[in-house]
Amino acid sequence: MKIAIGSDHAGFSLKVILKNYLEEKGIQVNDFGTFTEESVDYPDFAHPVAESVEKKEVDFGIIMCGTGNGINIAANKHKGIRAALCWNSDIAILSRQHNDANILTLPARFISKEEAIKCVESFIKTLFEGGRHYGRVKKISDF
Ligand code: RB5
Repeated sequence: MKIAIGSDHAGFSLKVILKNYLEEKGIQVNDFGTFTEESVDYPDFAHPVAESVEKKEVDFGIIMCGTGNGINIAANKHKGIRAALCWNSDIAILSRQHNDANILTLPARFISKEEAIKCVESFIKTLFEGGRHYGRVKKISDF
């Protein structure tokens, strides 16, 4: 499995934790930055992660900013992207089962590192259910 990861300064420390966690599991992580806690603009990191997911260079993306909202809104401008803002593992599971989310977005300033790891674990192992959800997701991409 390959994952693209990105954050702004508010998500930087959580990004380091999640990158280390994934690499320890043998998962390849393509890190699109940011690489310090210096103030930056979250769209600059949302777009390269979203493009990498759209091009199918990776299986999933993981992005984070302070609230998760800014970086999530930016990623969802991409036609092939379904980025889901998740704050617990049940929501992360449902984002895969029902929405076929391909990017997990986390609110770095409002989630513990333990809960963030649970979200990542749940997100990457859960399959899309298809069925009635297939048509709903298609109505998103058809628009
Ligand atoms: C940065 O201060 C903060 O605005 C950003 O991380 C994010 O929360 C925006 O949605």
